Amino acid sequence: MSMDIAGLIKHAITARENAYTPYSNFRVGAALLTAGGKIYQGSNIENAAYSPTCCAERTAFFTAISAGERAFAAIAVAGWPEKGPPGLAFPCGVCRQVMMEFCAPDTFIIIVAESENSYKSFTLGQLLPEGFGPASL
Ligand code: THU
Repeated sequence: MSMDIAGLIKHAITARENAYTPYSNFRVGAALLTAGGKIYQGSNIENAAYSPTCCAERTAFFTAISAGERAFAAIAVAGWPEKGPPGLAFPCGVCRQVMMEFCAPDTFIIIVAESENSYKSFTLGQLLPEGFGPASL
């Protein structure tokens, strides 16, 4: 599948606008591309009790999963402090493990972006080597 990386990053940056971050002021947006070409957006949602906070990546995944999606190609992540400057925010370990549940480590692409033309990309396997997933059971 040919992938519009700049377009996916644009969706992640747009999703960042809806981040709810009164505690950290660190605003993150994610755009998850399904195998069928649909895009699901997510932002981080914080909580006064702190631990219920959900990262942008998991918001995007859980939105897509609950809509019935099961096959994914890539995710773009755009995160930096509210007052900038833009930088690269890598998915946390919990989000990498959620990806491991639904994505093939060798083919699922994680794009960490600060703008449409400044980003790094990795496979899930590069960011979560020897991950434990459904195939491990
Ligand atoms: N966060 C994300 O949403 N995704 C990441 O990739 C890194 C961290 C959020 C969680 C929390 O709301 C804030 O960023 C600071 O940790």
